[in-house]
Amino acid sequence: MRIKAVLILASAISLVFRQSKANAEEMKSCDLFEGEWLSESSAPCTLYNYTSCPFIQKEFNCRKNGRSDDLYLRYNWRPNSCNLSRFDGENLLKKYKGKSIMFVGDSLSRNQWESLICMIIAAVPETSYTHTSSGEVTTFAFTDFEVKVMLDRSVYLVDLVGEAQGRILKLDSIQGGKRWLGIDTLVFNTWHWWNRRGASQPWDFIELGGQLYKDMDRVLAFEKALHTWAGWVDDNIDPTAAKVFFQGISPSHYNGTEWNEPGAKSCIGQKEPVAGHTYPGGAPPALGVLKKVLGAMRKPVTLLDVTGLSLMRKDGHPSIYGLPAMDCSHWCLPGVPDTWNQILYNLIV
Ligand SMILES: *[C@@H]1O[C@H](CO)[C@@H](O)[C@H](O)[C@H]1NC(C)=O
Ligand SMILES: *[C@@H]1O[C@H](CO)[C@@H](O)[C@H](O)[C@H]1NC(C)=O
Ligand SMILES: *[C@@H]1O[C@H](CO)[C@@H](O)[C@H](O)[C@H]1NC(C)=O
Repeated sequence: MRIKAVLILASAISLVFRQSKANAEEMKSCDLFEGEWLSESSAPCTLYNYTSCPFIQKEFNCRKNGRSDDLYLRYNWRPNSCNLSRFDGENLLKKYKGKSIMFVGDSLSRNQWESLICMIIAAVPETSYTHTSSGEVTTFAFTDFEVKVMLDRSVYLVDLVGEAQGRILKLDSIQGGKRWLGIDTLVFNTWHWWNRRGASQPWDFIELGGQLYKDMDRVLAFEKALHTWAGWVDDNIDPTAAKVFFQGISPSHYNGTEWNEPGAKSCIGQKEPVAGHTYPGGAPPALGVLKKVLGAMRKPVTLLDVTGLSLMRKDGHPSIYGLPAMDCSHWCLPGVPDTWNQILYNLIV
């Protein structure tokens, strides 16, 4: 009798073990970034909304700003050859006890950071937290779990400094890296600021190899800065202690020709994703540059390859329900960055 029970228990354990191993194998061989957006629900299926999460900044808070269509809140991302695990905020907090996650980059990093905070709060609405800022770093601490979800605003990753000659963007210098030491999971991003010109360009000179330049090819400057960043990661990251991700290139939708709607001059009025599996306009060239740099690194960095899946979401931007100017670059919250975080969750937990 007892032997039989032990045998049944043993085989049950080995079955569970084999199953979880099979799931892990399946996840490993599955490309989470190849798939399609499916609208499987007749109502919004997001984990939070603008009344349940008080941390959505005005510029991303589309519903509060008057966006009334809600089809864009009903899509789930379905990879082709596996299913994503549901995002479990409490599980994430438990697994990350005593640890920290930091997003480093521009406002697209802020977009993803706010999304993650809202997703976690939706899972543990009663938990206590603190929200503090120091210099460029904002820290959201889930104190009951000793987990920090941080944002370091560093739009170029490399240094931007005021000197006697003017404001200098230093492509070889990355002093900001001091703030990234000791963080357990880092998610980097930079791209959108590299094309800024005129009044919105925050530098007067670019410094490279000890020379000052009035300007240079922006994609080349981006590549040089990425090399500096890659060197920092290769020199400073211990892969057994820290996981490093690159958010990828978050795409904008200002030109309908790219999605076979030449009349559309922006994302205004877009209520549905692009149909099909591939974006007619292709990926932005910056993605190729990023992949090349990541491919030459010594330390492992995972590309959180959000470009392709986000390209399909011409409907996901604030358009006229965000910034005072039209915005087809950032994303409504709740919205597309929630999926980036669901994928991130599948990769880290
Ligand atoms: C937002 O979420 C809260 C909590 O889940 C729910 O009670 C409320 O009805 C939702 N509001 C809207 C506008 O969907
Ligand atoms: C994913 O889930 C759906 C619906 O639950 C199911 O029909 C499908 O077979 C699953 N796909 C895979 C690859 O497991
Ligand atoms: C839109 O994209 C098409 C195709 O890439 C290009 O020919 C056109 O010049 C673009 N329009 C604008 C306004 O940038």
